[in-house]
Amino acid sequence: MGIAGGGVGTAGEISIRPATANDAEAVGDLLADAAGPLAAPIWGGGSIERTRERFAGMFACWGGSDHHFVACEEQRVVGVIGHTADRTDPWQSLQASLATFRVYGLLGSFALSWRMRHMVSAEPALVRNSYSVWNLAVAEEERRRGIGSELLRHAHAGARAAGALTVGLEVLIGNTSAIRFYEAAGYKERRRRESARLRKMTGAAGLIYMTRAVRDDDWAAATTPSR
Ligand SMILES: CC(C)(COP(=O)(O)OP(=O)(O)OC[C@H]1O[C@@H](n2cnc3c(N)ncnc32)[C@H](O)[C@@H]1OP(=O)(O)O)[C@@H](O)C(=O)NCCC(=O)NCCS
Repeated sequence: MGIAGGGVGTAGEISIRPATANDAEAVGDLLADAAGPLAAPIWGGGSIERTRERFAGMFACWGGSDHHFVACEEQRVVGVIGHTADRTDPWQSLQASLATFRVYGLLGSFALSWRMRHMVSAEPALVRNSYSVWNLAVAEEERRRGIGSELLRHAHAGARAAGALTVGLEVLIGNTSAIRFYEAAGYKERRRRESARLRKMTGAAGLIYMTRAVRDDDWAAATTPSR
């Protein structure tokens, strides 16, 4: 299977294209999966079904977001990835906040931010020349077919185009299959952050920040995350 990088690519059975609001339902299901044990306790008020609906609702409000791409087999969405050079883009942050407000309402948004106080990030505050990957998920029945790798290659092509030196992502401690997957793609653990409060609320012990050089041979020139 081969997939072209960039905006839209097709080869063999799978194509990767920018996500749109029409993909909201499928993407909501996939993102609930990607959020793992955090999904229901934090975003779904205890219910995985509500998590799926709310993720779909937020994605629809967002208009798909500029930074998400879906892998499709014929017309069916079988995978998703978010990747961007700048996750702190204020316009995207505003759109995400508005989408949250529309889906959760005023009180629900306060309740969500209260639950979010348990979230930790393992990503160092100052990482220069790094490209971000997040929200990667492949439909359960389609895993181990190389779709996740193709989505990641799509992100790496974005990183190269943006002139980034490294690609960084966060993964939950204990998400062994995703960690193996990232290791197989050349990522290494750079930092980990545990949280007893997060574990108590969700069962997840914390997060790991992993990075990979955009080109393996330029790792020495890449910025080492500060601790
Ligand atoms: C992580 C994930 C995206 C991988 O997608 P995928 O399409 O199955 O991955 P690929 O088929 O491209 O796998 C490439 C390689 O990664 C490694 N790998 C993938 N899944 C693995 C697993 N469960 N256990 C061990 N190694 C694994 C293998 O080396 C594999 O190559 P192989 O199949 O030839 O042995 C998928 O398992 C998933 O959606 N998980 C749930 C959501 C999630 O945890 N997302 C990550 C959030 S940070």
